[in-house]
Amino acid sequence: MSNDTKIAIITGGSRGLGRNAAVHLARRGVASILTYNTNRAEADAAVAEVEAAGAKAVALQLDVGEAASFSDFAGAVEASLKGTFGQERFDFLVNNAGMGLHAAFTDTTVADFDRLMNVHLKGPFFLTQRLLPLMKDGGRILNVSTGLARFSLPGYAAYATMKGGVEVLTRYLAKELGPRGITVNTLAPGAIETDFGAARCATTRRSTRWWRR
Ligand SMILES: NC(=O)c1ccc[n+]([C@@H]2O[C@H](COP(=O)([O-])OP(=O)(O)OC[C@H]3O[C@@H](n4cnc5c(N)ncnc54)[C@H](OP(=O)(O)O)[C@@H]3O)[C@@H](O)[C@H]2O)c1
Repeated sequence: MSNDTKIAIITGGSRGLGRNAAVHLARRGVASILTYNTNRAEADAAVAEVEAAGAKAVALQLDVGEAASFSDFAGAVEASLKGTFGQERFDFLVNNAGMGLHAAFTDTTVADFDRLMNVHLKGPFFLTQRLLPLMKDGGRILNVSTGLARFSLPGYAAYATMKGGVEVLTRYLAKELGPRGITVNTLAPGAIETDFGAARCATTRRSTRWWRR
């Protein structure tokens, strides 16, 4: 593999939007280190799909809710960069991994809140911090938020609160990493029919009709 091949780390790249991103990047010649949390078989299928689309890929296990594991993860990334890609650094980080929660504000528990905060806010914050020394100057960071951080639907207070935090973090990172030429952006999708909330999509489509007009 040539030394100027670009490499993306995509958390939650084994399914849904992350996997789709990895396949699209592969069509442009970008290799991927994609992560999974629990489902190794899906991660292997994603690697095969990325490779069929024309780029190298490797799957690493990562729970973005476990900040204590990020040093080990960074070690695994370093080993993959050298062993699989023959490089020291990567180019792009997509903070995408996550799960949803649909619960009324009054029903949301402290445990629900903590789980969402660990995965969607604390995770991207400290994972990015830990991986930055391995990122090339001039790199790109994309933080996946949600449209729910910009409009309000009952049932998503805790989830959207974390994503709102990620949007603030994105602006601060853009300022602080600017001197290294690293750009940091938010992607805030509307409802997309992945495993994440397929059952909710129909409801969301109906209830968001007012803002699409
Ligand atoms: N789909 C939508 O409508 C929508 C809309 C707006 C924003 N988003 C955001 O887009 C991102 C991706 O969503 P998606 O729809 O692609 O979801 P998905 O299809 O359910 O895929 C989720 C991915 O994240 C991984 N993951 C889940 N919990 C994790 C954890 N604690 N640590 C590490 N990895 C974890 C999963 O790995 P395993 O399978 O191994 O567990 C899987 O690879 C999320 O941040 C979500 O909030 C989605």
